[in-house]
Order: sequence, then C-alpha cells, then structure tokens
Amino acid sequence: MNKLFLCLMAMMGVLTASAQDAVLPLIQNAKAYESVSLNGEWNYIVDVQEEGYYDYRMNPTRWGFFQNAKPQRPEDLIEYDFDKSPTMQIPSDWNTQDERLFFYEGTVWFYKQFKIQNSKSDKVLLYFGAVNYDAHVYVNGQHVGHHIGGFTPFNYDVTDLLKEGENNVIVKVDNKRHAEDVPTQIFDWWNYGGITRDVKLVKVPALYLEDYSLQLEKAKGVKGEKQKTISFSAKLSKKEAGHRITVSIPELKLEKTFTTDAEGKVQTSTFGIQAKKLKLWSPENPKLYEVRFSVDAATITDQIGFRTIETKGKQILLNGRPVFLRGISIHNEKPNGGGRANSAEDARTLLSWAQELGCNFVRLAHYPHHEEMVREAEKMGILVWSEIPVYWTIAWKNPKTFENAKQQLTDMILRDHNRANVIIWSIANETPHSPERDDFLGRLAQYARSMDSTRLISMAMEVTGASNYVNRLNDNMNKFVDVVSFNQYIGWYRDVNDAPKMKWEIPYDKPVIISEFGGGARYGYHGEKNQRWTEEFQENLYRENIAMLDKIEGLSGTTPWILKDFRSPRRVLPGIQDYYNRKGLFSDKGEKKKAFYVLQEWYRQKASQASH
Ligand code: GCU
Repeated sequence: MNKLFLCLMAMMGVLTASAQDAVLPLIQNAKAYESVSLNGEWNYIVDVQEEGYYDYRMNPTRWGFFQNAKPQRPEDLIEYDFDKSPTMQIPSDWNTQDERLFFYEGTVWFYKQFKIQNSKSDKVLLYFGAVNYDAHVYVNGQHVGHHIGGFTPFNYDVTDLLKEGENNVIVKVDNKRHAEDVPTQIFDWWNYGGITRDVKLVKVPALYLEDYSLQLEKAKGVKGEKQKTISFSAKLSKKEAGHRITVSIPELKLEKTFTTDAEGKVQTSTFGIQAKKLKLWSPENPKLYEVRFSVDAATITDQIGFRTIETKGKQILLNGRPVFLRGISIHNEKPNGGGRANSAEDARTLLSWAQELGCNFVRLAHYPHHEEMVREAEKMGILVWSEIPVYWTIAWKNPKTFENAKQQLTDMILRDHNRANVIIWSIANETPHSPERDDFLGRLAQYARSMDSTRLISMAMEVTGASNYVNRLNDNMNKFVDVVSFNQYIGWYRDVNDAPKMKWEIPYDKPVIISEFGGGARYGYHGEKNQRWTEEFQENLYRENIAMLDKIEGLSGTTPWILKDFRSPRRVLPGIQDYYNRKGLFSDKGEKKKAFYVLQEWYRQKASQASH
C-alpha cells in the first residue's frame, strides 16, 4: 500500500488493524548491514488493565495507545501522553529500571520517536533482539506484528510505513505467565519483562541474502585426508532464479559463485580446499575467517570458523579428536547486580569468569542468550550449549504450545547456525515423563535435526532413583538425542554423604554430560561443612560430586549449576536467598566462593589429561 493512502486511512483510524504482511523471516547476520539504532531513551506507560489495548468490554479498541493521539481541540479527551510519561533506557528489563516494577507482571507500553532524513534505502527492517514475552509492534500507528517468545530475535518490513521527518515505534509488552506458554507459568529465574535486547532499523537491498550456511563437512574418515570439504547453502529474500551469489574467503584466496534456483535458493553445494591451508576453529585456536557474501552488487561479511563436531560411541569428537567439555551453566543476567545481560561487555565479563574457572564450554540456560554472548564466546574459544525454554511442566497437549516451542527453536537455530562454537542444541530441561511429553519432544528433536544436521541434539533429563544407591537414566528420549545429559543434585536435594555410595546406570552408548549439579551458599557465610548455606557446605558438595561423577563411564562433560547467583522469585529465605538462587560459584556481586577453587582444580587436571 502506498504511503499517502496509508496516512489517509490511519487518520480515519481505519487501518489500525494491521499491516500483517510486515512479518518477515528472520534475517541472517543482521549486524552485517547498515542500521540505525533505536536503543536509548524510550517513554513508557505501565498499563495494568491494558486500558491502552481493550475497551471496557475487553474488545480490542481502535483508539488504543498505539494511536499516540493528541488533543486537537480544547475539549478533546485523551487519557494518556507518551511524551509526558517517564523514560527508560532500552534495551533493558523494566524490573531493574523502575523499582515500582521489580515484581511487575503485566503490560508496559514503550514509545520511541525518531527522525528520518532523506534516507534512500531499498528496504528497511525493524529488528528486535528480543522482547519478553508477548509483543504487539506498531509503526506510526500501524500494527506491524505480534511476537510471542522472550528470547529470540524477530523483524518486520517497515519500508512503506516510514516517512520523512518524525516517526514512532510503539510496543505493547506483556510478560504475564500462562500455563500454555514456553516457558510455562513456573520457572526458576526472574521474569524480566521488556525490550531486553537491541532494537534497530536495518537497511537492506530490495533483494538480500535472507539466510545462508557455511560449514565444514565431517571428514569421510579417510586417514590423513589431503582435502577438506566446505558446504554452502543460501536463500534469497525473493523466490527468483538466476541470481549469482559469490562466496569469498580472501585469506584462503578462495572464491566460488553459485546460482539460485526458482525458489531463490542455493541447495547445499560443496567445494574443496587443501586441508593444510585451512586452520580449524577450536578452543585452543578459535580461528575465524572473514567471509564475503555477494548477491548481485551487494556484499556483506561474516566471521566464520570451520570445525566438525560429532559423536563416536561415548566420545564427543571436535575436529575428529575426543574432547572433555569443562563447562558451567550460565543465566542471561548481568555480572553484577541482576537484570538482563544484553551487551558484548556483559558477555565478555561472564565468559572471562568461565575461562578463569578453566572452562572450554558453557551451557546458556535455559533459553537463547543475546547474540553477543555467542559471538564473544566464539572469539574466546568457548563452546556453547544453546537451549529453548521447554522447561518443567509444559502444556504438552496444546498444539499452539508446540508451534511456539518450534518457532523459538527455529529462530534460535537461524540466528546462530553459522557460529562454529555452538555444538549442542538443547530442546528441553527437566520435563516430567509422559507419552504426550515424549511425542512433543520427539517431534521437536526431529525438527531440530531437519533444520541443522551438523550439530548435536540434547536435553537435560532427570534420573530416577532406581534404588537407594542406584540412579538410573531411563528416558524414552534417549533415541532422539546425540548426547545423553541429565541433572542430579546429590548433596543438595539429597544427603552428600550418599555420594561415595552412588552408582549411575546409563544404558545408552552415547556420550554423557552432567548438565547440572551443585548447591547453594551465601557468599561470606562460613561454618562447618555440614552447615547448609555456608561456603564450606558448597565446597564439600563439589568435592564429593566431582569424586562421584569422575567414576561415570563415558562422562564427556559437566555444566555445574551455576556460574553466578541469579534472581529467582522462588528463593525467598531471608538473609540467605532474598530472591536469589544462591547456587552460583560467584556471588551476585561477582565474588568467588570457596567451591570455585574446587571446580577450577578439577578442570585444571582435566585440561592437563587432555593435552597428553
Ligand atoms: C533445576 C533447574 C534449574 C534450577 C535448579 C535449582 O535443576 O534446571 O533451573 O535453578 O534446579 O534447583 O537451583
């Protein structure tokens, strides 16, 4: 629709319904394009009863806050005003920006005004890094889309909605919890609401590279192979045949051109490279190559690492060699004081703590973290387990819940499937067994593999106490995963003195990762090792668990719970928890607890064993 027509219709208040055709598939590598950041001060209105969206009969109103209406005559009645409302720095969670909103779960409206001066660009996408949880997005009063899911990016085509001069974006954000959501209505982390990651206007050519994949093929098992094989596939933003896509890696003096088919796609194509010329990505040498992708006259660049990841019996092989994943679990929270982490600096701080611990691996729990976390880890040589929040008691029978989980999985994979350090897609955490759960997760696992056959699939399972001192992993999902992972809490939810007597039965010929173990301690609280909440209690728990887990055959890695104390509404013990889960090896202020050094020593031994 052209702009004049849109403006006339908007003035008549007719077109508030939607320009729903604005929703676009997620663009690959958005950061490669020229963009205008919309980060900064946004006005906000706390709308507890969603007065700005529904009329008094709870029907969506045409006169909602998204109109950003102003009185035209003295007698006009307008009961909101974004310009006179308070402001908040975006990206952020509202809980830490306004103390009135610390516990708030509901709707907050956000408003950003911005100018456009003679910007000539073929197409403009409005890109959100993430909004938690339910977002309605409006541009100059037009509804462009409704996004569900708190941790994955999304984008809209707003080309025809922007005008010279003043424009505005208005977002209705609602973080209320519901049983049919993903995650469901209970979870052990803070329900941070808001526009929690970057917002920007991305300028792209009329025809752009919607998605691409550049990966190193697994070795054919030929010993001392002289040739490596790289595979490439791509999808244009339009279904047009005959376009030339050129991939070049200047450092390797490599350039290949491909032609799109009638779907606008380049189906997986391979090309060879001399093995001795290609430096593989690894934790020890996180080599990234600048890769240029050209479509007709437009070129973008990405930083790509080449490596292979696979399993062989109970081993995980990185570039064909067994690797022990010295990991730690991390929530997407700022290093100091809580709130959603959202910058490269936050990422570097948290990842440097993990490296100090001796880690080559992190479990980004329990949902996709911000993109910079993955990209900084890739530069630092840290492998990644990335997960969608299919957590605890999901509404397994609800088709909408499945579609929601599938969409979040799709966008997690689309955003990061060119990151060499991402080796595991996790589809669930601690989900109670049932036929419906097995069906839901089985379909999700198969879909994940259809989207990306190059990475490993896993999920954090639960062990069942087969008898007093035997823990057995008996999960129907074992046939859907490449790596068998489970959480266990001997020492915290069960007496630590049982640890030496425990036997672990894992009847699957697959690598094993202990995706959680640990216990709580308040930093600075000291006492006997049997005194719960002391640092000594946590220290002893780590000692006993490490001794116990080291005996598990096929143990290929651990991601203890957790790097840093984190906010949780479920942890309310005064003077000890105060709405923090205290299982961190670092306090919420970044102070190391004694257990840190126990794990650090074990990982030091593991690293030296690996290097021999
Ligand atoms: C579970 C869960 C975590 C939770 C942890 C705990 O294993 O996966 O999200 O925080 O236990 O009890 O602290």
